[in-house]
Amino acid sequence: MATVYHEVKTAADLAKEPEEYRTAVSKIVVSHAVNELYGAQVFDEPAIALAPTPYAKWLTCRIAMEEYHHHVRFKGLADEIGISPDATDPKNKKPLSIFGFQMKTWPEFCVIKMLADLAEILQVEDLLHCTFVPLRNIGRITMPEEKFHASFGKDFCTELCKTEEGRRQVQQAIDDYAPFLPQFFGASGSKNNEIYRRYGLKERKNEEMREDFLNRAHAVVAELGLRLPELKAA
Ligand SMILES: [Fe+2]
Ligand SMILES: [Fe+2]
Repeated sequence: MATVYHEVKTAADLAKEPEEYRTAVSKIVVSHAVNELYGAQVFDEPAIALAPTPYAKWLTCRIAMEEYHHHVRFKGLADEIGISPDATDPKNKKPLSIFGFQMKTWPEFCVIKMLADLAEILQVEDLLHCTFVPLRNIGRITMPEEKFHASFGKDFCTELCKTEEGRRQVQQAIDDYAPFLPQFFGASGSKNNEIYRRYGLKERKNEEMREDFLNRAHAVVAELGLRLPELKAA
């Protein structure tokens, strides 16, 4: 068990911390700010046009709004701790591989919400205990929304699975999208992750989170009576 690092209560207090701690916090804040924005741009906002009913469109608008808001929250913290605006612009930072998928259909969006937002829930769970309190606070207010996104995905997948064709489309979307997921947790034996754990910014190793995610993803997909393909760890 790693030694527990002290709590850093405010953005102003962060300035007094060693450079390694500040850099680690910056990396986490930038990663969330970039990926929340990129996800909203490539998945959530385009999905509004794919949603098949007014009700589904309304919920998808709400999700897009919340994902943009997640970006706004992390970006606000980035500004507060003096991160350059260029650093949180997806044009300058390569977003995560899970956004490399070319989403074209409504079942694909539902699967993305069911599985990628479950992966996001695991990441946010880690923030809830992190030693940098402003990040912990963002995690706390963001968590119920990420849970809503994942349950939205599962509910709409369940709905689609009521027809033979819908069921086939959901399974196809799972088969196509799932291979993008394991890398979301980063490399096994990661040096960055070791630093994050040393400072209490993260609790778990990338490989531990990935394994937990895969177990949870298997369980969700099994509830639909479908299967998750065999996935290679990063
Ligand atoms: Fe989000
Ligand atoms: Fe989300």
